[in-house]
Amino acid sequence: MAKMWAGRTSGEVNGLADSFNSSIGFDCRLYRQDITGSMAHAAMLSQQGIISQNDADAIISALEQILKDIESGALEIDPKAEDIHMFVEQVLTQRIGEAGKKLHTARSRNDQVALDMRLYLRDQADSITALLKALIKEIRDKAVENKTVIMPGYTHLQHAQPVLFSHYILAYAMMFVRDIQRLEDCRRRINVSPIGSCALAGTTYDTDREYEAAKLGFDSICLNSLDGVSDRDFCIEFLGAMSTIMMHLSRLSEELILWSSQEFGFIEMSDSFSTGSSIMPQKKNPDMAELCRGKTGRVYGDLMGLLTTLKGLPLAYNKDMQEDKEGVFDACDTVTVCLQVCAPMIKTMKVNAKAMAAAAQKGFMNATDLADYLVNKGLAFRDAYKISGSIVAWCLQNGKILETMSLEEYSAFSPLFGADVYEAISLENCVARRISAGGTSLASVEKQIGYLGDFV
Ligand code: ARG
Repeated sequence: MAKMWAGRTSGEVNGLADSFNSSIGFDCRLYRQDITGSMAHAAMLSQQGIISQNDADAIISALEQILKDIESGALEIDPKAEDIHMFVEQVLTQRIGEAGKKLHTARSRNDQVALDMRLYLRDQADSITALLKALIKEIRDKAVENKTVIMPGYTHLQHAQPVLFSHYILAYAMMFVRDIQRLEDCRRRINVSPIGSCALAGTTYDTDREYEAAKLGFDSICLNSLDGVSDRDFCIEFLGAMSTIMMHLSRLSEELILWSSQEFGFIEMSDSFSTGSSIMPQKKNPDMAELCRGKTGRVYGDLMGLLTTLKGLPLAYNKDMQEDKEGVFDACDTVTVCLQVCAPMIKTMKVNAKAMAAAAQKGFMNATDLADYLVNKGLAFRDAYKISGSIVAWCLQNGKILETMSLEEYSAFSPLFGADVYEAISLENCVARRISAGGTSLASVEKQIGYLGDFV
């Protein structure tokens, strides 16, 4: 069949070239946005007297029906159509004839596709925000359930200082809060209407872009038509936000994978979020967390892919830009499914407080507190640090830990030690005394739990 754009060319395209050129296989998912945009466009055209009210009514009600028919399955999207924009217009014209042919007045697929992508990403920003909130809620609940559990805190993956498990896990909730804020910020730039930019230069018709934008819920319009049709920085920014979410999910996943290992044993994933091995009967694998970690790579790839596609493109529209969609859709789908899986995975995991407490006894994590004890007795921190370090070395040679040293043994290192040293180095006190704002004390955790309440 000859193309709708047959004119300068015959519109008879080689079969291979035709399918190479077609985007319907993936942009079909924009049908709702495309139809919604077209309804607003028809309303604007008639409001401005560019088409008649009757024609606009006919167009709008036919578009409504097309939307219903696609959703009910009564209308199948034709895989041979060039793209979703052509498909909708074709069906419309088949159904209502002459009036349908007027819809594309003062519009181009170039501003139409930019519009569709913005409408799509606006919805995605909202639905992904809701999923982030659901995840934050599960993390917060886990922290509340295990508020006073003590675990090792690490630097360089070496035991560093004891922290509350609740404090540890809430660090991730804070990251996801920023992911929400990043999406909110990015959404503000998504929510600017390109429609009316037309092919590249605007139009000779007396259109009302503000009216059309307001009808579609946009905050404002793109002020430069060339920019409106040819930038995809809103997609890049969105993919940046998606990549950051995945980076956070991947780090959290890595912790959960490590913690599920025999060496750590800090948590146990629910059977419903674990898998077994086809050969080793004893296995319980944290595949869901591993997949989140693994899928991070493809979302980064989506971002790098689009950055590279846009690099060096001259203004205005170039067909290269059709390549924006698959990566963006893939990132939306990947982030969505990862967030959907992570929330219940965290909800159902068991925290092994005993294993965490036992691990926290190893590695002299109270050595800083031992030094602080001496500082409180009047020593300079550097001197206290040195003494505390030699005590650790002595313990290592003598198979002891700070808690099992006698007062006599302590006194050999400094006359400042008294019986109150044991209280000073108990892990509970090490945690409880870290009362600086944002530290690991219970009061700080309570404050964080309160703050996060606004996001769930
Ligand atoms: N399918 C195209 C895309 O996704 C729509 C815009 C086509 N514009 C054009 N001038 N051929 O980019």
